[in-house]
Amino acid sequence: MDIRALAYVVIDAVDPAQWRSFGGDVVGLQPVALPDGGVGLRMDERACRLFVQPAEADRYAASGWEVADKAAFAAALRALAQAGVDVTVATPAQARARFATEMAWFADPAGNRHELIWGHRSDFARFASPAGVPRFVTGALGLGHTVLPAPAFDRTLAFMTEVMGFASADILTHHGPDEGAQRIHFLHCNNGRHHSLALFEGSVPAGCVHLMVEVESMDEVGRAMDRVRQAEVPLMATLGRHVNDAVTSFYFRSPAGFAIEFGYGGRVIDWATHTVFESTAVSLWGHDFSLGF
Ligand SMILES: [Fe+2]
Repeated sequence: MDIRALAYVVIDAVDPAQWRSFGGDVVGLQPVALPDGGVGLRMDERACRLFVQPAEADRYAASGWEVADKAAFAAALRALAQAGVDVTVATPAQARARFATEMAWFADPAGNRHELIWGHRSDFARFASPAGVPRFVTGALGLGHTVLPAPAFDRTLAFMTEVMGFASADILTHHGPDEGAQRIHFLHCNNGRHHSLALFEGSVPAGCVHLMVEVESMDEVGRAMDRVRQAEVPLMATLGRHVNDAVTSFYFRSPAGFAIEFGYGGRVIDWATHTVFESTAVSLWGHDFSLGF
């Protein structure tokens, strides 16, 4: 399966309107009304990058991956069928709701829901951030990255690499104070972003550890820090710089419980020359995760 990028994510919300102020005024995304009563959040010329849908609980609902075209979509469905995965092909109305030409969905062995699309639909209207963020780093690199829980770690990792076609960027082994080691595997798809997906060896009730969005400068990270403080949104990690993707970022709590990582300076990797490594530290400096994780 040739996944090009993380195209969008879906979030369940008891009160989607909360995301209008959080996503718009704090993160700096552009809220739009969705036909299902939900809130869409734009971050570029695409119609929607975060779909916040009305639900009975607040949690991360799905990751939306895109392939290049109809042929790649058909090939992906064949690969899933061959692996014995239970796939549902969306109705035209369901695909339209994701602003996609076609869509299908399935679950990985950890129970995370994945959606697959081709042909994103957009009127290419100019992105206008209510917080004045000039631009998020998206395009061919996708919207950012997502970190998903994978208690059934080995099976989920095998599914991601052997069926979904992700490849290893690098590995982090986290040694907690009282528990044993927990692994995080960073995985890339077919673009230069260091990782579009990471798997965390553990359970997370919110359905996601964090969702990362990227801006173009440290000043935009600093301005986001000001907005987070002003809105009294709880921090989940202090400012710091990651050893692997080189992102300088901080983390704060979203209304669904998982964190938003807001950063800049992500490495773009030439996979032909990259060598996988295993790190035993998350960050070069900063990133005090004792605040909220
Ligand atoms: Fe991250």
